Amino acid sequence: MALRRAAANGLLLQALSYPGNSSSALTRHLHASPGSKKIVGVFYKANEYASLNPNFVGCAENALGIRHWLESQGHRYVVTHDKDGPDSELEKHIPDLHVLITTPFHPAYVTAERIKKAKNLQLLLTAGIGSDHIDLNAAAAAGLTVAEVTGSNVVSVAEDELMRILILVRNFLPGHHQVINGEWDVSKIAYRAYDLEGKTVGTIGAGRIGRRLLQRLKPFNCNLLYHDRLKMDPELEKEIGAHFEEDLDVMLSKCDIIVINTPLTDKTKGMFDKERIGKMKKGVLVVNNARGAIMDTQAVADACSTGHIAGYSGDVWYPQPAPKDHPWRYMPNQAMTPHISGTTIDAQLRYAAGTKDMLERYFKGEDFPAQNYIVKDGELASQYR
Ligand SMILES: NC(=O)c1ccc[n+]([C@@H]2O[C@H](COP(=O)([O-])OP(=O)(O)OC[C@H]3O[C@@H](n4cnc5c(N)ncnc54)[C@H](O)[C@@H]3O)[C@@H](O)[C@H]2O)c1
Repeated sequence: MALRRAAANGLLLQALSYPGNSSSALTRHLHASPGSKKIVGVFYKANEYASLNPNFVGCAENALGIRHWLESQGHRYVVTHDKDGPDSELEKHIPDLHVLITTPFHPAYVTAERIKKAKNLQLLLTAGIGSDHIDLNAAAAAGLTVAEVTGSNVVSVAEDELMRILILVRNFLPGHHQVINGEWDVSKIAYRAYDLEGKTVGTIGAGRIGRRLLQRLKPFNCNLLYHDRLKMDPELEKEIGAHFEEDLDVMLSKCDIIVINTPLTDKTKGMFDKERIGKMKKGVLVVNNARGAIMDTQAVADACSTGHIAGYSGDVWYPQPAPKDHPWRYMPNQAMTPHISGTTIDAQLRYAAGTKDMLERYFKGEDFPAQNYIVKDGELASQYR
């Protein structure tokens, strides 16, 4: 299909054979063909908030702050928040766009069907981290490039996770709700409020965010554990003060607090189902800012209802925006928010700059920073395989 589509568009093709793939694959060079490109951005809408901060570049209205730059070079830049369904604004532009930019906060779901329709598409950019809203195998098969702004919001997310841990450990939210509701009942909060010091905290995934969280937890004098497909360098492990747990289930049975920090991949999708949650300590606190679909939605809601999970907090859901009847909105013991942790103003400025940098390189036919690629030359980045 890649050959037919690319040839029909007069694009430069290169036949390549890939390790571990017996058939030769065809892909399109990432050299922009001469002339204007149609770039579509899908971002959350800000309405009256759009003009309140000149650095609020992540919303649809402010469009990453790159409109003038793109248009002054003769490119067309269409921006919308309307992304889902056959009648959406995005759908209208699928047949002739060259580049699609979206964010995980308001993700444009790029299905195999949309990829098939997008005859001119070459490049999918994630303004942020996590490209699971794209059917990556379909993108690879079609010869598309997928890249994200790796590292752009890792501090923002690690800080937010630390906040969520403290909110859950201290049983903070019910106390805050009392104040709003005109109540005063110390015992209702205090019977299950704890110190963080001395607790066992485990992260599943100790990459850029997981490590930063562990570093921030160190001064709290916790017992720190991590499970990852890769063990850290011993020097770094020593500096962070975290112990590697090869067996995930063994780690789960030890933790008072569990934090999820892996990408959503074929291996991590639904990883926390009823059985795996059953391996956690009764009364465990869980923080998940990674991706909603890593959890079995109903299993989490059930475990919060029985109290097996004594507190669940995170900002990621599936799908997004979360529908009004999403079970996590109504389950007890939760401190959920919309997807916000990685879209602080500081993060927006970083992922907007990173997106601009990749577009600039794309126009010049230059490679992106290696760590940004999620799909390149028909291959998925290693942790997505
Ligand atoms: N809520 C937000 O705003 C927000 C923002 C940024 C990132 N994220 C999510 O956080 C994820 C992690 O981001 P990061 O920058 O730390 O990524 P990273 O690539 O630096 O780290 C991911 C870690 O997960 C490990 N991993 C991958 N698959 C695994 C598996 N099956 N079992 C065990 N370990 C596995 C990797 O080895 C790596 O160490 C992103 O993919 C994204 O989904 C969320």
